[in-house]
Amino acid sequence: MRGKFITLEGIDGAGKSTHLPWIAEWLQAQGHTVVVTREPGGTPLGEMLRDLLLAQPMHCETETLLMFAARREHIDKVILPAMGKGHWVVSDRFTDATFAYQGGGRGIPSSKLEALEDWVQQGLQPDLTLLFDVPWEVSQARLALSAVHDRFEAENQAFFERVRNAYLQRARAFPQRIRVVDASRPIAAIRETVAAILGELE
Ligand code: ADP
Ligand code: TYD
Repeated sequence: MRGKFITLEGIDGAGKSTHLPWIAEWLQAQGHTVVVTREPGGTPLGEMLRDLLLAQPMHCETETLLMFAARREHIDKVILPAMGKGHWVVSDRFTDATFAYQGGGRGIPSSKLEALEDWVQQGLQPDLTLLFDVPWEVSQARLALSAVHDRFEAENQAFFERVRNAYLQRARAFPQRIRVVDASRPIAAIRETVAAILGELE
């Protein structure tokens, strides 16, 4: 049986990386083989593209195309093969991030993103997307504690408000797939919500 595909989304500092190992362990405890991966990245070439994307200033359309180039490799080399073996794939970000950051944040029209999505994904969509939602002030306070800041994290409040709104708009457009999790709460409370949502997938 084909494995399921779960993606984690949210603005930087929402807590995706904090929850990801716990989610993987929770699914393993249910008896699934879990593949943990991320975007941009997930393959050797994708990780090279990630290094460029996070550090190198570039045109916003170049940025969009490189995100989808990395995704094409990721789908072909990691996501579909794993799902085909019945493994569950959990990815730290996927295409909703492109709609949020390059669409909402940078202003690339949805029609262009949808065309690339159709081309690259050929109908592949996550079975579930957990959208970790926090106000910018909360994410900012969390990120202030860490030393490393990439090209996206250096963006201003207005950028992240647009990214967050674009995510929430997508959650309204795809309510079956995208579940909004209030990630401004303590970690234990968030885990409880996430476990309840994951339990519905079985
Ligand atoms: P993301 O992967 O979404 O960018 P992280 O998981 O790296 O976010 O979290 C950013 C920072 O916030 C980390 O230092 C993490 O320990 C902290 N953090 C994450 N979730 C919470 C939470 N619910 N409450 C308090 N701090 C949190
Ligand atoms: P992420 O792995 O969440 O960063 P971190 O390791 O700091 O938690 O994501 C890297 C950055 O890439 C993040 O700022 C969002 C951005 N991004 C896009 O702009 N578009 C995309 O399609 C994807 C997948 C990520």
